[in-house]
Amino acid sequence: MRNIVIYGFMGTGKSLIGRMIATHYGMDFIEMDDQIEQEEALSISAIFAEKGEDYFRLCERNLVKKLAKKENTVISTGGGVVLNKENISDFAKGGVGICLWARPEVILKRTKKGNKRPLLLVKNPIEEINRLLKQRDPYYKVVTHHVDTSLATPQEVVEKIKNILEKESI
Ligand code: S3P
Repeated sequence: MRNIVIYGFMGTGKSLIGRMIATHYGMDFIEMDDQIEQEEALSISAIFAEKGEDYFRLCERNLVKKLAKKENTVISTGGGVVLNKENISDFAKGGVGICLWARPEVILKRTKKGNKRPLLLVKNPIEEINRLLKQRDPYYKVVTHHVDTSLATPQEVVEKIKNILEKESI
């Protein structure tokens, strides 16, 4: 089975939905941020603080190269993986891409917990979410399939993705 690659901004539900899809199809599941934290033996926040965003993007890039060779795996990416077009094209060779979306106020609510989002540790996070969404919009649009998770339950999102995958005959 081909890989299923879940893209989308922070707080759009990539990890939860990715896990549910993997369970449904009996596929392996990989969360890129978790994998990077394990490989670097540092939290995402510590990587950003101690080594910088460029270093983190390099970790992401190297991990994409490895993961793109896998099969039968659902991959939940980090929200910024789309910034490097090579990441999307490498993943596209062995898998189908689904981009999750959510409204800025939903993203704000979902990202308040935890400390995995150093980019949103700013005075006015909603402003930053809007700024980043606008800046990244063209990058996310490159992904073939899109699902809005703002108002849907996780089960409803999974159903929509299953429909997309059936049409793709994955
Ligand atoms: C980032 C998103 C985060 C994490 C890092 C950078 C981004 O992942 O990779 O904080 O640039 O959008 P999630 O999308 O899983 O929150």
